[in-house]
Amino acid sequence: MTRDQDVVDLLLAQHEEIKSLFARLERASGAQKRDLFEDLVRLLAVHEAAEEEVVHPTARRNIASGEAIVDKRLQEEDEAKHELAELYDLGVDHPDFDARLAKFAEAVVHHATREETEEFAKLRDALSADQLRTLAGAVRTAEATAPTRPHPAAGESATANLALGPPLALFDRVRDAVRDWSRTPS
Ligand SMILES: [Fe+2]
Ligand SMILES: [Fe+2]
Repeated sequence: MTRDQDVVDLLLAQHEEIKSLFARLERASGAQKRDLFEDLVRLLAVHEAAEEEVVHPTARRNIASGEAIVDKRLQEEDEAKHELAELYDLGVDHPDFDARLAKFAEAVVHHATREETEEFAKLRDALSADQLRTLAGAVRTAEATAPTRPHPAAGESATANLALGPPLALFDRVRDAVRDWSRTPS
């Protein structure tokens, strides 16, 4: 992640990363599956917090039909957050987990495609290169706030519980940090 990147570049790269995590989760089992699910929770918290606090509000004000487009995206994000919390409570070893995750992945990918076609493309047209680069700070702040998964030393078994804690608490924590960033004059 470099300082030259604009916010849309970063969000698009994260969309690809999210898709790749879903694909890897589909084939994983045991401790690896738990680790990948934890990576997914973290990445979604980082990504959606930056969108929710900074990107969507900017799109709402600056793109045509911004109100309607953004309201729809926020509704999808709210649903996704709650489904993610339920998946977390279910646990990766639950017999229903895979089917629920597959449905969740479909909804998240659909949501991401809508953002790309209806929102990000217009945002790129509406804002200057400088503005887009400044907004990337929201993604960097979210990244810096979310704890990364501790990698257990060789031979050490990963714990059954996710080290990051429940998704909704993590989402709130990252969102608060991005909100503080957006209110600090640069
Ligand atoms: Fe989103
Ligand atoms: Fe997104």
